[in-house]
Amino acid sequence: MDVANTKKRKILVTQALPYANSSLHLGHILEAVQTDIWVRFNNLIGNECLFFCADDTHGTPVMLKAKELGVEPEQLIKDVKLDHIETYKLYDIDFTNFHTTHSDENKKYSEFIYNEAKNKDLITRKTIKQLFDEQESMFLSDRFVKGACPKCNEENQYGDGCSKCGATYDVSEIKNPISALSGTTPIHKDSEHIFFNLPKQINVLKDFLQKSDLQKPIVNKLSEWVNDDLQQWDISRDAPYFGFSIPGEIDKYFYVWLDAPIGYLAAIENWAASNDKKMEELWSKDSNYEIYHFIGKDIAYFHGLFWPALLDSANLKLPDGIYVHGFLTINGEKMSKSKGTGILAREFAEVCDPETLRYYFAAKLNDKVEDIDLNLEDYVTRINSDLVGKYCNIASRCSSFIKKNDNKLSDNINNELIESIKSKKPLVTSHYNSRNYSKAVRLIMEMADDINKYINDSTPWKKELNEAIDISSSALYAFRLVSIYLQPIIPNITKNAFEFLNSTENSFEDLDKMLKKPINNYVPLLNRLEPINLKKDEPMNDNNFIDIKQFADVDLRVAQIVEASLVEGADKLLKLNLNVGELGDRQVFAGIKKAYNPEDLTDKLVILVSNLEPRQMKFGLSEGMVLASSDDEGIYLISPDSGAKPGLRVK
Ligand code: MSP
Ligand code: ZN
Repeated sequence: MDVANTKKRKILVTQALPYANSSLHLGHILEAVQTDIWVRFNNLIGNECLFFCADDTHGTPVMLKAKELGVEPEQLIKDVKLDHIETYKLYDIDFTNFHTTHSDENKKYSEFIYNEAKNKDLITRKTIKQLFDEQESMFLSDRFVKGACPKCNEENQYGDGCSKCGATYDVSEIKNPISALSGTTPIHKDSEHIFFNLPKQINVLKDFLQKSDLQKPIVNKLSEWVNDDLQQWDISRDAPYFGFSIPGEIDKYFYVWLDAPIGYLAAIENWAASNDKKMEELWSKDSNYEIYHFIGKDIAYFHGLFWPALLDSANLKLPDGIYVHGFLTINGEKMSKSKGTGILAREFAEVCDPETLRYYFAAKLNDKVEDIDLNLEDYVTRINSDLVGKYCNIASRCSSFIKKNDNKLSDNINNELIESIKSKKPLVTSHYNSRNYSKAVRLIMEMADDINKYINDSTPWKKELNEAIDISSSALYAFRLVSIYLQPIIPNITKNAFEFLNSTENSFEDLDKMLKKPINNYVPLLNRLEPINLKKDEPMNDNNFIDIKQFADVDLRVAQIVEASLVEGADKLLKLNLNVGELGDRQVFAGIKKAYNPEDLTDKLVILVSNLEPRQMKFGLSEGMVLASSDDEGIYLISPDSGAKPGLRVK
């Protein structure tokens, strides 16, 4: 499809709602980046594309976490929401609205859909055996139970699904169940539950699988389920449960997976209310908006079966497509906290410019359900070679010539170069539209190669100034086009590029615009990345002796803290200005904010590793490292006894 030539589309996009029980990890960011790129792209080609999300606040994951922290669920979800919003912001995820499932809108819609389903005879009741914890005297559902998967026998799985084989099952089917609350073996006890009659919706589902935009393997999997395994869906949970109580029932709550996707509607309605829009216009049987859900492969069952069946029962529009991505692995392994690869998104953002991760993910993402690996070495190489070496390099090498012309570009532009890049627009557009971002990235980097080659072949540094300015101007016009193409992926870096170029209109429809005003002085758009090490400290090896020479290679010095200050945007760091006697002044970023107030550090003596290679961080240059020890309770700076003078060697 030539998307550029179709008429303006109206699109509602959602990503899966993260559980409000913990901070976001890089897997969440992968999904957010995939979705955000698609949304930004659509808006840049002139579509109206709105992006909604919310925190998924109900059910056992949140209850367990709140219990662990000793806080009320309401408090937990409030704190987590702030944390999630801030973290997404670091990665430039541009939501139209980020709401919560613990909201009036969501309660209203959950009740509405339930009542509609009831009116259509899609709600049934049945007394079933449930697991009951006698010690806590409560029914155990979902994550309150651990045991072996009934399908593949994997041990230590939750009662609501298997992380190994992806099966979802009823908690009563789990093998060798143990209560996650008390550690005791639960008994079976009768309880009446409320069910949604999924089998009755089989024709709706078959129709949905045919008509909507789904990836092949997903259609196959969902069809398998539809054809041989459709069961009544248990939508109730017994009190105590953090969620919405079911109208007309006592001590019964909606299962979190009932109100979670309804949270999409709630997020939209919450936005509509303050933006003068009507829900009928946005999400109803005959609205003009297309609806797409971006999700991970583990929740395809919920989105591909339960959700369309529910929407249909309330006579609401079904999604036009569901786009499923694979899982993120790190250095080839599943993310794991103990291996130091369960990387929190906030922590990663302190080590690298988040835009570079957006770029790396884009360079790997396609329309498949395959897993995606973040290989840290490959990541650094990729960013340095593509973004710094190819893309930014164009601007930095051309700007000096333009500066000699009072920052004015020439009008004598090399048309061949410019036209060849413009002519790629339909291809770039089609790659973005089909979520084949890796192909878009490859194509755009080929353009950057062409521009660099053009500069190399034209040798502006050997030419008269006038000609050098023509060459550089042509290259910068081409650089602007490449920046427009890259904009959905690296919105912040390209924003700075446009500022440098003084270019104000930068949508995909603005490729032909001319740059009239003088440009601005070039400020580096991105620094080279240093190798990343996220490993936790290795345990000491008794036999790992070093010789005295190796020790002497480390130049340890007494240093005095002249000033310690907070670093904007960094959770863990303090900036230390040090007096190191004969070595002069040094600036060091130290990860000690958690344990020290900056004011308390003034004049303190510390030990500095003075010959550590300086490291360019997002916040500035760090020239060495101060010694400290740490354990779970705190961080302890190492200080010499009083009398030591700044600059003295430690040996
Ligand atoms: N709360 C549910 C979704 C409800 S949507 C109505 C949930 N939350 S989650 O926090 O566990 O996951 C949110 C999204 O992140 C899901 O789409 C999930 O597939 C995705 N990911 C979780 N771990 C992931 C990776 N390691 N890699 C990529 N995506 C991952 O499920
Ligand atoms: Zn399993």
